[in-house]
Amino acid sequence: MRKFGHFDDERKEYVIQSPRTPYPWINYLGTQAFFSLISNTAGGYSFYKDARLRRITRYRYNNVPIDMGGRYFYLKDGETIWNPGWSPVKTELDAYECRHGMGYTVITGKKNDLKAEVTFFVPQNYDGEVQQVVLTNEGSNAKTFKLFSFAEWCLWDAQDDCTNFQRNFSTGRVEVDGSTIYHKTEYRDRRDHFAFYTVNDTIDGYDTDRDSFIGLYNGFGDPQAVLDGKATNSFADGWSPIASHYKEITLQPGESKTLIFILGYVEMPVDKKFEADGVTINKEKAHAMIEQYNTPEKVAAGLAELKAAWDKLLGIFNVKTSDDKVNRMVNIWNQYQCMVTFNLSRSASYFESGIGRGMGFRDSNQDILGFVHQIPDRARERLIDLASTQLEDGGCYHQYQPLTKKGNSDIGGDFSDDPLWMILSVGAYIKETGDWGILDQPVPYDNDESKAKPMLDHLTVSFYHIVNNLGPHGLPLAMRADWNDCINLSCFSDKPGESFQTYTNPKFKAEGGYSKVAESVMVAALFTYAGPTYVGILKHLGKDDEAAKAQAEIDKMKKNVMDSAFDGDWFLRAYDAFGNKMGSKECEEGKIFIEPQGFAVMSEIGKDQGADIKTLNSIDKYLNTKYGLVLNNPAFSKYYIQYGEISTYPGGYKENAGIFTHNNAWIICAEAYAGRGDKAFEYYSKIAPAFNEDISDLHKTEPYVYGQMIAGKDASRFGEGKNSWLTGTAAWNFVAISQYILGISADFDGLKVDPSIPKAWDGFTATRKFRGATYNITVQNPDHVSKGVKSLTVDGKAVEGNIVPVFTDGGEHKVVAVLG
Ligand code: GLC
Ligand code: GLC
Repeated sequence: MRKFGHFDDERKEYVIQSPRTPYPWINYLGTQAFFSLISNTAGGYSFYKDARLRRITRYRYNNVPIDMGGRYFYLKDGETIWNPGWSPVKTELDAYECRHGMGYTVITGKKNDLKAEVTFFVPQNYDGEVQQVVLTNEGSNAKTFKLFSFAEWCLWDAQDDCTNFQRNFSTGRVEVDGSTIYHKTEYRDRRDHFAFYTVNDTIDGYDTDRDSFIGLYNGFGDPQAVLDGKATNSFADGWSPIASHYKEITLQPGESKTLIFILGYVEMPVDKKFEADGVTINKEKAHAMIEQYNTPEKVAAGLAELKAAWDKLLGIFNVKTSDDKVNRMVNIWNQYQCMVTFNLSRSASYFESGIGRGMGFRDSNQDILGFVHQIPDRARERLIDLASTQLEDGGCYHQYQPLTKKGNSDIGGDFSDDPLWMILSVGAYIKETGDWGILDQPVPYDNDESKAKPMLDHLTVSFYHIVNNLGPHGLPLAMRADWNDCINLSCFSDKPGESFQTYTNPKFKAEGGYSKVAESVMVAALFTYAGPTYVGILKHLGKDDEAAKAQAEIDKMKKNVMDSAFDGDWFLRAYDAFGNKMGSKECEEGKIFIEPQGFAVMSEIGKDQGADIKTLNSIDKYLNTKYGLVLNNPAFSKYYIQYGEISTYPGGYKENAGIFTHNNAWIICAEAYAGRGDKAFEYYSKIAPAFNEDISDLHKTEPYVYGQMIAGKDASRFGEGKNSWLTGTAAWNFVAISQYILGISADFDGLKVDPSIPKAWDGFTATRKFRGATYNITVQNPDHVSKGVKSLTVDGKAVEGNIVPVFTDGGEHKVVAVLG
């Protein structure tokens, strides 16, 4: 077992020491509008706001080798050609290092006494990627060598770019002005945006036509112009436009040279697009952007500003436990990943193409749970965007495109869990901020302003969407799918190519599109878990009658679950369209599922009959493995047409008994809730990436971020991670560790401190900024228990219970909680 780098906690970086990681290990640059993905060998691409509709540079997915295409610097030193990031030329380097930090990446390579250190970042409030190249001659003789840059333009719409060749091979257009290459395909007609790639120095040549630079029969690893040692000054006209600068450089021994490249994106007002000739791009805005980062001092200041912004964000919640791995996950990487998932939902990663999915309703609402404390204003904006895609009956579009913010009608709605996540996310937002005003904010239905109603109304229809769509056992209808995209109880698909998520069998047409028999116990449990947040809101608003009415629905649901969905030792998963049990002892395969259990335990369904502990023990017995909890057991070994996609995966992968790290968090929360801090922590540490760093060669994906899935015990690659970065795992595991295990959570009327930790811990300290004040929290565990606050003092004064009151003084407050 081996690792490929190490954490540098001081600098908040992961340091990769070998370019041959078991999979490309990537980072994200940009948090606002301009985004880049960058791998440890500088592969990846950039886009503005929307990875599909406004793609700036090209990337070929599913490539061989896997990570081909990126922003590349080629050095030709004598006959040796190399890249600072090793790939794509793959000349063996004398030294290599990649440091992924908070919104920046530094890749350093060394060959034959020449050192190249490249810093990549997207500055704050800036629509471009800055690439600073520092070249140093570390030898004792003068060196003359050649540098080529490379970026390949994508023709804006990434979907069209990789399908519509009959048109696109004839539309590519560029302009070259000094050291700046402008990409202006379609700018003359309907687009009012262009991109540029520049360097802050004179150049000795350029290329803008891909085939001229690379050669029709060459690849990224052996571009003809680099082999020849000279740019061709090619001019793209159709085909594939690229941008490559060429420069000859001489360095004396010990001498360094810094070059600053910028890949920028510019939008222009329609009437200012051109110069007087009506043809040449008006470059005013581009020049201003170039000015902003054209010296090393400006770059250093921009990077310092970015780092300071991250220090501030990460300073909002900070802990010190006796476990370094917990500290680095909580204080750095898990929070960083929460920002990335908040920004990108499930659109663009090395497992998501950026053209498949926009912002998911359920996904983005869950992402808010892990992000809301960082920038609550952005969470608020997102909540409103999401709620605007809801329909008047409480259903909602499953996805929307970030550029248009309109519900995506190709995918439509009828995912049974969707509305409930919004109750949780709006609740989390109010708890964090105390901004009750959001509930009065008018928010459209179906993106139609004339149908706007206060946000509270959206919560009400969300809640009653469940109540109004119950099946024969009084449990929520399963519809197309619930949280588990792959349990499709109305699909009955027997033709290849039908989408399990959007295809519903015509046999249910008369019933309104989906089975009115198939029910989801997971949604029932989610309803009883999220419902109290809605009730809490109503009570706070003094709407006691409505609160009582909602509470009665929750109580009824709990009863229905106990009456029809408790299987003796755990909760069922569903009733299928025939009314048969799914996830029961009676089933041949898939006897127990993870999803409903955690929410049922935290809702205390059947607690008086011991259902909670029985359920948790069953999970430990049937789902626990050395790498985490599998989703279901036993795995399905054949296709169950009545269940849908879940049984199409080989056992141990994805939803078919994979270790879905997202819902592992629900069990971690439930164990902590039940006071079993040791179990909670065991499950937490099995899947938290920093804990798997030592088995990176097995785990494969980045040791600093969660993936969606780890192959389960039925898989031949048991323990192998997949689908890193964009997953609800980030938010939920942050909730699990920070709010349930460490037990610090925002509440409507204060900050709750209720840890559930391993008994061996002596305690821990934490800093939490909350509603303007700073809470310095010390948790002491003299009796070595897991849970139970014996005493709580705030600024030396005893406080009843476990809620620290809200302080409006903006000051610092000392909180001491003693467990026992
Ligand atoms: C993926 C999807 C998410 C879904 C989950 C389980 O993570 O993004 O929406 O809930 O898979 O199927
Ligand atoms: C989620 C699931 C995946 C499913 C997909 C459908 O990503 O994990 O298995 O195919 O959603 O969109």
